Amino acid sequence: MKIQILLFSITAWLYASCTTIDTTQPETGLLTKNAMVVSAHSLASEAGKQALLAGGNAFDAAVATHFTLAVVYPQAGNLGGGGFAVYRLNDGEIGTLDFREKAPLAATKNMYQDSTGQVVPNKSLVGHLAVGVPGSVDGLLKIHEKYGLLPLATILQPAIDLAKNGHAINKTLAKELNRFKTTFLQVNQRQTPYSKEENWNQGDTLINQDLAKTLTAIRDYGRSGFYKGWVAASIISESKKGHGLLTQADLNRYESKWRKPLVGTYKNHKIITMPPPSAGGITLLQMLQGSEFYDLEKSGYNTSETIHKMIEIERRAYADRSTYLGDPAFVEMPLDRLLSTAYNQSKFSNIDPSLATPSSQIKEGQVEVIESMETTHFSILDQAGNAIAITTTLNSYFGSKVVVQGAGFFLNNEMDDFSAKPGVPNQFGLISTAANAIEPEKRMLSSMTPTIVEKEGKIKMVLGTPGGSTIITSVYQTILNTIDHQMTMQQAVNAPKFHSQWLPDKVYFEQGKFDQPLLDSIASLGHQIEFRKALGKLECIMVHKDGSIEGAPDITRNESVAAGF
Ligand code: DON
Repeated sequence: MKIQILLFSITAWLYASCTTIDTTQPETGLLTKNAMVVSAHSLASEAGKQALLAGGNAFDAAVATHFTLAVVYPQAGNLGGGGFAVYRLNDGEIGTLDFREKAPLAATKNMYQDSTGQVVPNKSLVGHLAVGVPGSVDGLLKIHEKYGLLPLATILQPAIDLAKNGHAINKTLAKELNRFKTTFLQVNQRQTPYSKEENWNQGDTLINQDLAKTLTAIRDYGRSGFYKGWVAASIISESKKGHGLLTQADLNRYESKWRKPLVGTYKNHKIITMPPPSAGGITLLQMLQGSEFYDLEKSGYNTSETIHKMIEIERRAYADRSTYLGDPAFVEMPLDRLLSTAYNQSKFSNIDPSLATPSSQIKEGQVEVIESMETTHFSILDQAGNAIAITTTLNSYFGSKVVVQGAGFFLNNEMDDFSAKPGVPNQFGLISTAANAIEPEKRMLSSMTPTIVEKEGKIKMVLGTPGGSTIITSVYQTILNTIDHQMTMQQAVNAPKFHSQWLPDKVYFEQGKFDQPLLDSIASLGHQIEFRKALGKLECIMVHKDGSIEGAPDITRNESVAAGF
């Protein structure tokens, strides 16, 4: 029996360096000389590009792209959600803006539990009680106010026109609107601009006059157009209708926050990324530090040796995510220690090359990952060399599914990113502790990881992706693919992804993208393998040595588009 296992392992190992690379996909993305916008929708990328052509900078383009996504990509683009921006100016100045949602003032620690202390399924996910105080409008307007060059009216107009005159919906949106048709009706108890009697088809025109009015209020009155006046009143009355918690005081007190970026290194590259309340940056930097203890370039792209080590690195990093991280306004976090070389050496240098470490030996627990997710990322580099990476979300597809009556936009269900009860997983199978417990006005922990990579003082990449808990590992693998395995940006985006998050003690591989012998070899080391249809939707930019700019949209997993000149 032992000999059989040995023979099986050796055979698997021999085959292990073959992996399926889809040669039907382009090897490089869009190449331009001056500027690039990469987003999940052609109209949003185009709106960003037009802002740049009109003399705007990356920040103007970000505002145009974001608000257009709110119209044409309503499954994740948003006014009623939140997100994070990481940017780098052409003079080297770096920064981040946190426009993450907050728990309403009336939120309580056990609000998603019943009288016996059980977490009520879906209570933090669907309907009015799942909603956190929206941050996106405040965030994008702050970015514009500080760094934009063009008038707000110019950059918001494309979004207003698309909402008012309608746009031909793509296949993805038609499919998602049909999938959630019944839920929209159940949650809203009325038809919304996102529903009609018959099913949606690709090419149907989606007109949303209510959303056009809301965008016009933002254009004309700025922040007050959303957080005060009739839009605010509509949000509050909508919330009340479904026993939600939002009040005018919540809207008045919402404020996005400039934060110092987290900065780390990987093989002579500087990694600029998002600090808490995102867990993304810290976990990414830990995984990159862990990778420096191994020569992953030498062990080769997608060999079982490399994948095994990366899985082990991922599971070790995610254990810290669950234990220590939360909103910095509420919890003390040992960030310096988590990023110190000594700590990470002890954490990552003990990987057994021939055996998986059970997650229970890292920390115990058992949870399942549920698949239901949607967020969106866009990357922009302007003609002057300023870059911005924004990941923004309603959390699940169409957030809480609540549409603000008369105002035409979805509200998030970001409250599910809190820990509803210690040890009970959220929709991404993530568990967290008191550090991420619900408290009034606290920001829920996130995985979003907008990131900029510099080499020798110059921008090399702008990166990010949706994917809930899988965001961080997708960004990590994309960085390694370019630095260790010399891929173009498009190859790194297209490359098959895998994901391990400590708990559950499993590794998720993209279905049909890895050869069976490679998977057998990885399983033979003790990893429990499961499959996911897709991991991530990366929207990235790379600046090549000759100065050309490569825009790499995730064309294999979404209808994403790069637009540049
Ligand atoms: O902030 C977070 O980590 C999650 N709310 C992000 C959700 C997400 O990426 C869903 N997308 N695919």
